[in-house]
Amino acid sequence: TEFVTVSELATMMDKTPTDIIATLMGIGIFASINQRLDAETLAMVAEEYGFEVEWVSAELTETIPEEEDDPKDLEARPPIVTVMGHVDHGKTSLLDYIRTSDVTEGEAGGITQHIGAYSVTGESGRKITFLDTPGHEAFTAMRARGAQVTDIAIIIIAADDDVMPQTKEAINHAQAAGVPMVFAINKIDKPGANPDKVKEQLSGMNILVEDWGGKYQSQEISAKTGQGVEELLEKVLLEAEMLDLKANPNKNAIGTVIESTLDKGRGYVTTLLVEAGTLKVGDMIIAGTQLGRVKIMHDEHDQVVKEAGPAKPVSILGMQGASNAGDRFHVMTDEKEAKAIVNKRQQLQREQGLRTTKHITLDEIGRRL
Ligand code: GTP
Ligand code: MG
Repeated sequence: TEFVTVSELATMMDKTPTDIIATLMGIGIFASINQRLDAETLAMVAEEYGFEVEWVSAELTETIPEEEDDPKDLEARPPIVTVMGHVDHGKTSLLDYIRTSDVTEGEAGGITQHIGAYSVTGESGRKITFLDTPGHEAFTAMRARGAQVTDIAIIIIAADDDVMPQTKEAINHAQAAGVPMVFAINKIDKPGANPDKVKEQLSGMNILVEDWGGKYQSQEISAKTGQGVEELLEKVLLEAEMLDLKANPNKNAIGTVIESTLDKGRGYVTTLLVEAGTLKVGDMIIAGTQLGRVKIMHDEHDQVVKEAGPAKPVSILGMQGASNAGDRFHVMTDEKEAKAIVNKRQQLQREQGLRTTKHITLDEIGRRL
């Protein structure tokens, strides 16, 4: 198994990727900046800089068992999609366009609240949940915590630019996570746009899009005018269909923390993405090292909701502390048990914080993939 990349390792040790590449060369390994390193290599490089790699396994964190579902209880659920790409290639513009153009009838006044995720309805009436967290940093942070939230990645590339380092990184991340990609070739309204050049450069990375005879769907779009965006969403839905995404809505909710912030007046505001089950007001939950009870729940339209089913993002009030993006949450029925788990997790966290040696802590990325 391969874990972090050269550049991620450099960041953890406060070194430059060039330092790491040079060190690797010293031990006969020729690596690129985005290359993932195996455990043995990681340990060797870290040692050169006086670090010790500490592996934190899921066992260390007081896991909560999750039951297997009976196939007959499974129902179709919307895909969860992340947009990734190089700086300025149009991630925010695309997400904004999708958000503001979604005027689903019956829903009060569009999406009004930024909660890190939102759900939109495509022309065909099917829903897509978008993770609206800043690009692939959030994706990486979540993956580093072992969370696999995204079902499909939209890789956005500006047609007036080249396939850039962060584009390659995004592709690497998606591939490493086994997440299918749909390519959005953006800014085609611009006079200098050259989508064919982008496709050619992708082919140079062994990524063949459909009109080059490959398996990857791509769509030329303008996040500015909206051209092609509806088609892009339909392609995402097609990809989702092939994944046959299902979840059991009729059980206690489990899912992932998307964001957690402290609001002076309201306390901890936590965005949760339900993966399976249905989250209800009044539910007691553990999210990472924190305990709480769902006091009030809002959706992205700032509407109060009483329940949230699979692939539904909601912001809740009622947590006693801040969870981390990517933490798993579970609805608990036994308060004593819940308190015991949280105490244990908090104690483990304190102990880790107390260790004095230079450590880099790596979750076993890919454990749950
Ligand atoms: P970072 O968050 O900084 O990484 O950038 P980003 O990927 O979110 O890009 P953003 O959406 O901020 O777009 C960057 C610039 O490109 C902005 O000035 C946008 O207005 C412009 N832009 C984005 N999409 C399009 C498009 O389709 N056509 C044109 N003409 N401009 C676009
Ligand atoms: Mg942006």
